[in-house]
Amino acid sequence: MPGTGTLQPALPRTHYIDESSWLVEREQVLMHSWTCVGRLDELGLTAEGTTELLPNRVAVVNLLGESVLVSVTAERTLHAHYNVCRHRGTQLIPMDDDGAAPAPCALKVIRCPYHSWSYHLDGRLRSAPLSGDLDPTLFSLHPLGVDTWGGFLWLHPTPTAAKPLIESLGMAPQRTVRYPLHDLVVGYRATYDVKANWKVIAENYNECYHCGPVHPELSSLVPAFASGGVDLDWEAGIAHREGAWTFTMSGTTDRAPFADLDEDEKVRHKGELVYPNLLLSLAAEHVAAFVLQPQAIDRTRIVCELLFARDEVERSSFDASDAAELWEITNQQDWRICELVQRGMTSRAYDQGWYAPMEDASKDITRWLLPRLPQVEGV
Ligand code: FES
Ligand SMILES: [Fe+2]
Repeated sequence: MPGTGTLQPALPRTHYIDESSWLVEREQVLMHSWTCVGRLDELGLTAEGTTELLPNRVAVVNLLGESVLVSVTAERTLHAHYNVCRHRGTQLIPMDDDGAAPAPCALKVIRCPYHSWSYHLDGRLRSAPLSGDLDPTLFSLHPLGVDTWGGFLWLHPTPTAAKPLIESLGMAPQRTVRYPLHDLVVGYRATYDVKANWKVIAENYNECYHCGPVHPELSSLVPAFASGGVDLDWEAGIAHREGAWTFTMSGTTDRAPFADLDEDEKVRHKGELVYPNLLLSLAAEHVAAFVLQPQAIDRTRIVCELLFARDEVERSSFDASDAAELWEITNQQDWRICELVQRGMTSRAYDQGWYAPMEDASKDITRWLLPRLPQVEGV
């Protein structure tokens, strides 16, 4: 468009505020994507203090409004199924009335509370009392795709359309190869209900144009952020101020850097966004993992977990507050500005936004989303 200089158009406003647009995106995009659910060991499916799957365990998770059973069989294989009986649709393991999941439990069989059809943990129908000679293979629970990477559990709501998980992780596995993601454990968790579309939050994560105005504390730690981080080499990692080497209030900590990092990674910071919903911010001795859980067109729950080496967390002197304090400040600043974006987008005066040159990476949201919405004209 003449007069817009080097600006690039962002997605039209309907993608952020229109209810029917949300329903299409939810069904055609998010329900056809691998989605990160959270840390595997936080679901109660692994032995205490290990990443080893426990046999005969079932956890219930909420994925985009769908209740899902994640199970581990006696042979320690992982499965996921819709929490829906094949007889007449009863929810097999009840969610709380407010949609919260019950605690994970030890189970050998999933039994429907209505007419007692029962299922093996791999989803096969085990028995259907007084139902005659029916073929059990026709009445297995409806499956989801399930896989793990980096210690995170991933589900695919439409497994017939699923490519292998690794193909949807982009460059993240290679770029984080020296970080021991699989073995890290949660040392701090905060959950936020943010009144903004999930894409606003992803776009905000993907650019540092806002860092100077929005994040004075972070910009003090990383002086280049004050001018938007322009020219920073995110692939190589970003440098901190003199004497600082990690994302804490002081820029240092008594925790050791992860052992296998290269010399740059021991003093620099990296970031990854695995579409659609896992944001990783990688410091030398901890990783901040953000799982976005879209709730509605204008609401997103964000689970922020700070992950540390297991031996650090098990130390009696372990204290995550030096990292948590910086993240809490930064998170509140980000969620506040995202909510203001969402509010502004609802104005009749707003039609679409623009990306400045240094926001180019955030154009990725259009590159990721639009090919998955073939019926919507590109921008
Ligand atoms: S609805 Fe589950 S057994 Fe009837
Ligand atoms: Fe930010």
